[in-house]
Parts: sequence; structure tokens; C-alpha cells
Amino acid sequence: MHTTTATSAPGAATSRYLAAMRNRGALSIDWAAAPTRHKRYPGAERVRLPWTAGDGPAPGLLGELLRNLLGMTRIVWSHHLDDGGEPVGRPPMLLTGRPAPSGGGLYPIEAYVAAGGPHLPGLPAALYHYDPVHHVLERVRDDDHVPALTALPPDGVAADMAIVLSAVFWRSMFKYGDFGYRLICQETGVLVAQALAVGGRLGLAGRARLRFPDGEVDRLLGLDGVREAALAVLTFTLPSGGARPPDAGQPPASSPPASSPPGSSLAGELMSRPVADESRPLPRAMPDGHAAALHRACAFAFPGSPRSADAPYSPGSPAPAGVPRPRPPVRAGRALPAPEPAIGAHPAAGVPRRTSPVTGYRPVPLLGRALGAVLAAAGGGYPADLPGAATGPAATALCLLSLRVDGLPSGAYWYDPARHTLHELAGAGEVDAVATGRLLANTRVALRGAAAALVPVGDPLAGARPFGDRWYRMQQMEAGLVAQRAALAAAALGLAARIHSDGANETTDEVLGLAGTSLRSLSFLAMGTPPTGGPLVARPIPVLADEEVMPAPTTS
Ligand SMILES: Cc1cc2nc3c(=O)[nH]c(=O)nc-3n(C[C@H](O)[C@H](O)[C@H](O)COP(=O)(O)O)c2cc1C
Repeated sequence: MHTTTATSAPGAATSRYLAAMRNRGALSIDWAAAPTRHKRYPGAERVRLPWTAGDGPAPGLLGELLRNLLGMTRIVWSHHLDDGGEPVGRPPMLLTGRPAPSGGGLYPIEAYVAAGGPHLPGLPAALYHYDPVHHVLERVRDDDHVPALTALPPDGVAADMAIVLSAVFWRSMFKYGDFGYRLICQETGVLVAQALAVGGRLGLAGRARLRFPDGEVDRLLGLDGVREAALAVLTFTLPSGGARPPDAGQPPASSPPASSPPGSSLAGELMSRPVADESRPLPRAMPDGHAAALHRACAFAFPGSPRSADAPYSPGSPAPAGVPRPRPPVRAGRALPAPEPAIGAHPAAGVPRRTSPVTGYRPVPLLGRALGAVLAAAGGGYPADLPGAATGPAATALCLLSLRVDGLPSGAYWYDPARHTLHELAGAGEVDAVATGRLLANTRVALRGAAAALVPVGDPLAGARPFGDRWYRMQQMEAGLVAQRAALAAAALGLAARIHSDGANETTDEVLGLAGTSLRSLSFLAMGTPPTGGPLVARPIPVLADEEVMPAPTTS
């Protein structure tokens, strides 16, 4: 039975979750309980997606965007490795690689698309689910869902289409237990970064909505909120004149006409209609525990809304003011100018090149300007409803471990994105202590050759008053977002990066001078020069095939 947290103080569920995660034991994994890594709606009508934006006007944009988000883009022959990263001699596994990283390669995130009609000619207006295996849209429910979805979040800005990222919790939690919730939130942020980067390259103006009434968005998508729930809503406007026919006579973007009912009643009407059936067996519900309690608490975290499970979210409630950005710990010393960014490190350019190295890095120095570009990408603003995000990370700050960077002494630094400066936190000798923390073997291997590590930090409770427990979720998403922007900028420059969640630990906090403060390391992105060989062979899956990938016939 799920215990209720509806009457808890804001942040209480976060505190309980954090305490449980601090004391979590070793993983005990039942691989037989692993669900499939993608879902389908087998009986739904399917719309074949073009592979690239060049293959047709608007659906092509959508096809390229979705493929670059969750598509099957690589074939990987991977040898089993020992703790030191050496092949153990067993036959290789064949894996499909995706464009964005995923904790444990479990891919718990799904994408739903509200699009079509006059705003996206060539696609019937409907709510769709993206099937990455066959690169098709599956029609979940007919009719235009864009006005309902764009009107539900508090800022309700009009858009041409919306992509909702949802999480199938069990896909990650069968392995990681409650810790999987943190990975899922970060991975959502990773995908938000990826979608904004790719959308920007395609001329789409994107915006991330992290604050919305969960129950209503889940019901609109036909999700039960316990097996699978919406975590982020991305809205996009198409390049002007690019998709909309000039004579369409439609209002700009998908704002409901003045006579339309407000978003919640539009949504209510759509929700009353059935959705297509998804494939069976269904994944298990999120296991009862601290993560489930935190997830439920997130849903009640709107200012002015009564903290009760049945209370409807009021879209009219004012947006909370921002939370002050994290400040450097008192021991921060001298400020140095960060290296000037290299040109050509636009995150979108890194999408086709990005993978997480499995055996660490070549121990060669990183050019200072490459580091400058990575820092600038990670520290830039992004379009979202988190107050302050437009000018830079709003819930997190960026710390850097410089291990071998040309022109920058080894040590730990606090990065100030507004001034592009680095503030000394610790010297070379102290930074060596990071390797003595509780690290997994592959993180130790990575640290031997890595040139730097980026460590997003934040106070998990700082925003509990204005945002309730949802702050935790938004902060974790931002940590994933900044890590992915750094990883993409690195990949654009021919470098490599990998998230090592275990690197965000008490020893790292100690080195960064965070011990005894309310700040904590939230993630840990190692980066450096990729090795020239290794136990993996990866090949991109070409996009030129002009045929639909047909699902194999099933008996169920
Ligand atoms: C939120 C998140 C957490 C991750 N944590 C770890 C980690 O602790 N250790 C690790 O080796 N890789 C970690 N990864 C990297 C994944 O294992 C990797 O992305 C996945 O195996 C797919 O490989 P690819 O990134 O090369 O496509 C993480 C990725 C994400 C998105």
C-alpha cells in the first residue's frame, strides 16, 4: 500500500528520500524481472516518419528530432569487461545504441507527440507515441492535443507541437531500486538538453515545461502515473512559414481560438475519450517506498494548491519567484578567467558523435579552449519555466576538477558562468583524494586518463518552500541537462565524456569544500580524449533506407 505524503511539509519527502539514498546498500538485481526497453501500441494506426528533415517538410523535422532523441542509431558489438576495463574473453553482445546516454543503458524514457493538422501539414492531428524501434508514430488518440497540453502548464505559451517525456519507472527501478528515480529525473534533463539542441539546429524554437499538473497530463496521455508518468513537456514552434501553409489562415501557433474552452476543459474533454491499448505485459508499478512517496509529493507542489491528492491544480496560481542561485563555499579563493571557448562546439554538432567511453581516456592534456567551450555550453541559459533558467542554470552550480588541462593548474574550481571565471576551491593534492572515494571500478579507470570532471552541485532543499518537493525533481533534471550540454560540446570537439553517478559522493563534496554546507554534488561527468581502440565496435545505422521497418507479426 502506498503511504500518503499529501500532508507532509514541503521538502519532507525529499529529506526522507535523501536519507534513504545515503544509506542504501549494494544493488541486488533480479535480471529476470527486467521489462522490455521500449513500449508499443500494437493495434494503433501507425504513421511512418521520414528519417531526416530533408525527407518532407514538417513530418521530416519531427522524424529527425525524435530519431536524435530516442532513436536506434548505432549497432554496438560490446565485449564483456572486467573491473579494469579489459575484455574477459566471452563472445561479444550485440546492442543497439541510442543518441543520448541512459543510466545503465535501460532507456526508461518514452516520448509522446501532440502534433498535426494545420500546424504540421502532412500529419493528421492526434496524440502519438514514438516507437523508436520501427521509427513510426503510433496514434494514441485522435484530435489536436496541442492546445490542451500547452494550456495546462502555468505559463501556457502557445506552440505548434508538444513532446511529452514520460518515465516507465520499473525499467530503471528493477535494477537500481529507489535510486532509479534520481537517474530517471537526470535522464529526463539529458533528453531535454538533447531536444533543445537538435530542435535549435532544425530551426524549432523549443521550451521545456517542468511545472505542470502531473495528474492531468498523465490522464491526457492515458498513463496511470504509477507504472509510467509524464516528467517534462517540451513545446516547439516551427520555423516561420516552414510548415504552416501560407493560406492556412490559422492563428499563430496552436493557441486555442478565443472561443475555445480553457486548457483544462479541453483536456477534460479529450481525457474522457479512450486511448489505444499498449503492449502487454504491462511493466510493474513503481515499487512502494521513498521514491514513490517523493514522486507523489512532487505532484502537490504548486503554490496555492491545497496539498491534497484530490485537489485540482489551479493554473491561475502565480509563478513562484526564483530561488537564489547556489553560492560558492566560503573557502573559494582566487578567481581566474576561464579559457576562451573554442569555436564550433555547438552542442547539436556533438549529437551524432557522442558515446560514453567504456575504458576511460587517453591521458593527454585537454586544450584550454576546449574546456572553455564545454564550460560555456554547460553554463548557458535555456528556455524553461524554471525561474532564472533563461540566463544560466538556476538550481545548480558547476564545479570543475581540472586534472590535465593546458594552462589551468590542476585543482578544483567553482565556475561562474556570468563572468566566465573559475574560483579556486582546492589544489592538486586535495583533488587526488576524489579517487579515494567510494567509486566503481570503471570510474577509477576513467579518472586515470580523464582531463577534467564537471560536477553539478546544488542544495536539494533550497527550493522546497516555493516549489515543494518538485524542486528535487527539477534540480535533478537541470543537473542532467547541464551534464548533457557539456557532453555534447565535448563530442562536437572530438572529445568524449561519461556520467559516473558514483562520482557524486561525500569524498567529492569534501574536496569541493561542500561538507558542512547544504550543497551536494548531484552528478559527475568525466571527460577527456577518447582512446583510439577498445573493446567496442560501433557503427551508425544509416538513415538512407527508403522503407518502413515493419514490426514482426505477434500472436498476442
Ligand atoms: C543519468 C545517467 C547516469 C549515469 N550513470 C552512470 C554511472 O554511474 N556509471 C557509468 O559508467 N555510466 C553511467 N551513465 C552512462 C550510461 O551507462 C550510458 O549512457 C549507457 O551505457 C549508454 O551508452 P552511451 O552513452 O554510449 O550511448 C549514466 C547515464 C545517465 C544518463
